[in-house]
Amino acid sequence: MNVIDLRSDTVTLPSPQMREAIHHAELGDDVFGEDPTVNRLEEMAAVRVGKEAALLVVSGTMGNLVSVLTHCGRGDEIILGDLAHTFIYEAGGTAALGGIHPHTVPNQPDGTLRVQDIEAAIRPDNVHFPRTRLICLENTHNRCGGAALTPEYTAQVAGLARRRGLALHLDGARIFNAAVALNVDVKELTRDVDSVSFCLSKGLAAPVGSVICGSKDFVAQARRNRKIVGGGMRQAGIIAAAGIVALETMIDRIQEDHDNARRFARAVAGIAGLSVDLGRVQTNIVYFDVTRERPCAEELAKKLTSRGLKILSTGPNRLRAVTHYGISAQDIDRALSILADVCRAV
Ligand SMILES: Cc1ncc(COP(=O)(O)O)c(C=O)c1O
Repeated sequence: MNVIDLRSDTVTLPSPQMREAIHHAELGDDVFGEDPTVNRLEEMAAVRVGKEAALLVVSGTMGNLVSVLTHCGRGDEIILGDLAHTFIYEAGGTAALGGIHPHTVPNQPDGTLRVQDIEAAIRPDNVHFPRTRLICLENTHNRCGGAALTPEYTAQVAGLARRRGLALHLDGARIFNAAVALNVDVKELTRDVDSVSFCLSKGLAAPVGSVICGSKDFVAQARRNRKIVGGGMRQAGIIAAAGIVALETMIDRIQEDHDNARRFARAVAGIAGLSVDLGRVQTNIVYFDVTRERPCAEELAKKLTSRGLKILSTGPNRLRAVTHYGISAQDIDRALSILADVCRAV
C-alpha cells in the first residue's frame, strides 16, 4: 500500500539531487574547520538570512539549545511562549544542561506574544529574581498552526529587547515557510533578531541538519557550545551537501505545500464530524478537530493509518496534518477521500 504520511514535514526523504550531492561531497574534518562543503553551506546560510556567520548543527533542538546556551548563563532567564517548541518539545534542555530558567507568557493564536506581556515578564534588578537575558520567538509557529510572524511584529519585539538590554533569538525551524507565506525576503524576518536557527530538514527536505546564524562573535561562541553538547561533527559535508541543495532548490517549491495544505483544510471543513479554522491555515500545517464524541482523535488516526493515511493526533480531539516535499495534490485528494470514507463509516 502506498502510504500518505502527513504526520510531519520531518518525514521527507532527500531529493535525487541531494543524494547525488551527498555522493560527490568534498569532505574534511569540520572540527578543524576543514570541511569545504560545510564551510560553503555555512557561508550560504549566513548570506541567505543576512547574518555575518553560521554554524551547522545536528537538529532544530540543538540549534535552539546551543543558541540559548550562547546568550545565557546559569541562573539567567529566557522569556518564551507557553506553546513554544523550545518550551514544550525540547526535553527541557536549556534548564537541564544550561541551568536557564524558562519564563513563559501566553502565545496568542497567531503565534505572537503580546509585547506588553513580554515587557511585564522582564525581571527588575532584584536579588530575588533570575536575570532576564533573552526573548525567544518562533516563526512559523508550530503549535499555533504554522502561523507566520510578520517583519513588523518581529521588529517591535526586537525594539523592546534593545531598549531593555536583552537579546532576541528566533526559532526559525520553518522560517522559509514564513517568508513564502508572507511573500517577503527571509532577511526581513531575520534582520532584527540577534540569532536565528533554521532547519534544513522539514520544509527544505534535507535528511539532517539545522543552521544557527548570527554575528561572528556569537557564532564563534556557539561553536564552542556545540562542542560542549557533543555536536562537533567530523566529515559533516555529507550532511551539508544535501543542505546546500536544500537552500538552492527547495525554497521556491514551498508554495506548493502551502497550496496543498489549503486544499486539504478546505475539504476537511466540509467533512461531517470534523472542524477546522480556515483562517488559521497560513502555511503547511493544518490542525483540525473531531467534533463528535467518538472516535477520539487517536482512534481516528489509527483507523486512518490502517487505510494508508498517517495523521498525527495531538490532543484528545485534535489532529495535525502537515504537507511537504513528496506530497502531491493527487496525494491530498486521496488523503481526503480516505478521511471522508473513514469519518462516514464511524
Ligand atoms: C518550531 C520548531 N522548532 C524546533 C524543532 C526541532 O527540530 P528537530 O526535530 O530537528 O530537533 C521543531 C521540530 O518539529 C519545530 O517544529
